[in-house]
Amino acid sequence: MNGLDDVIAADTALSDVDGQAGTLIIRGHSLDELAAGSTYEAVLALLWEGLFEEAPQSLAFTALLGRARSQAFERLREADVRQVQQEPVEALRVLLAQIDDGERLDTALRLVGAAAVYTAAVLRLRQGLSPIEPDATASHSADLLRMIHGRPATAEQVAALDRYLVTVSDHGLNASTFAARVVASTRAGLASAVIAALSALKGPLHGGAPGPVLDYLDSIGKPATAAAWLQEKLSRGERLMGFGHRIYRVRDPRADSVKGALQTLIRAGQVDAQRLQLAEAVEAAALKLLAEKKPARPLQTNVEFYTALLLEALGFPRDAFTCVFAISRTCGWIAHAREQILGGRLIRPRSRYVGPQLISARSR
Ligand code: CMC
Repeated sequence: MNGLDDVIAADTALSDVDGQAGTLIIRGHSLDELAAGSTYEAVLALLWEGLFEEAPQSLAFTALLGRARSQAFERLREADVRQVQQEPVEALRVLLAQIDDGERLDTALRLVGAAAVYTAAVLRLRQGLSPIEPDATASHSADLLRMIHGRPATAEQVAALDRYLVTVSDHGLNASTFAARVVASTRAGLASAVIAALSALKGPLHGGAPGPVLDYLDSIGKPATAAAWLQEKLSRGERLMGFGHRIYRVRDPRADSVKGALQTLIRAGQVDAQRLQLAEAVEAAALKLLAEKKPARPLQTNVEFYTALLLEALGFPRDAFTCVFAISRTCGWIAHAREQILGGRLIRPRSRYVGPQLISARSR
């Protein structure tokens, strides 16, 4: 069964992924340019520009998101705490479902604010700790790290998280974004679109890959054992997480953007370089084996490989990595949903029937 390869299912002015050149453009800006110093709020403002009737100045988004986080925290007190017993991404899905649906800016902001607040709260509660109240004056990245760790993050950590959130904020018509657009096209609302997208994101072939990347590194242990360990996995027919992509035939440009953030933390002496050295050895061994196994299909490093190391370095537990991806991508999903609402029609493709022809009553 095909996976709609190369089918153009939407026109978008939001982002363009060139799989041959290995480039990502977000609203006319290269990933390199945006990731070099933009905050999450700045890229959110860029993605949402012109998509809502209400048109806040880009500078206002720090305050608007701060207020949205505070409102999400107020609502959290009403939430059923039993929900936090689930995996973080499942808990996030359940908690986001409590948000009233709508198509306007207030719903959009509420969803972005809630994704950060609920993730932090779920992680605290399962350690037996109380959720930490948001600081409405802080940036989204700084506040997320503080709400999780209970202490202010360093400037380098905040910049590294901003770089990650900017890097994965939008990426063409990937599976979760397509899910968001389909739901938005029925006019079900932004909350429904975001929950559908999150449900698509959590699969291991999409946004669920970085957790298993760290499991690989732990099992491999040292560079010398990488090739044999990976070979064993491939010979069992398993896929190597963090490699391959539907669109990219060259290295995913997001991989080096995220790796750059990790290297900044290492240079600042805030992260040990050993983990990166092991990862580089594993990456080199994996690329060599994949090239031998699939010479006709270039399988390169994707964003999830170094995402795993960066999010680990920032202190996120590995089963929460998909939530952090979602915290960022929520703004991209919403931008696509709004674009669909404003300019699109109901998405309703056709299937080809390959079942038995009509069985008449007489021949039964
Ligand atoms: N390891 C080993 N073999 C692979 C891998 C991999 N990571 N990826 C693809 N292949 C093989 C696959 O088995 C198939 O072989 P064959 O033709 O013999 O059956 C061939 O390459 C083509 O694979 P495909 O399934 O047609 O490729 P796709 O475009 O559907 O898959 C993918 C894209 C990302 C799902 C896949 O590369 C994969 O499963 N990667 C591992 C999971 C992963 O890292 N996901 C994160 C993706 S990046 C985040 C995002 O943007 O979503």
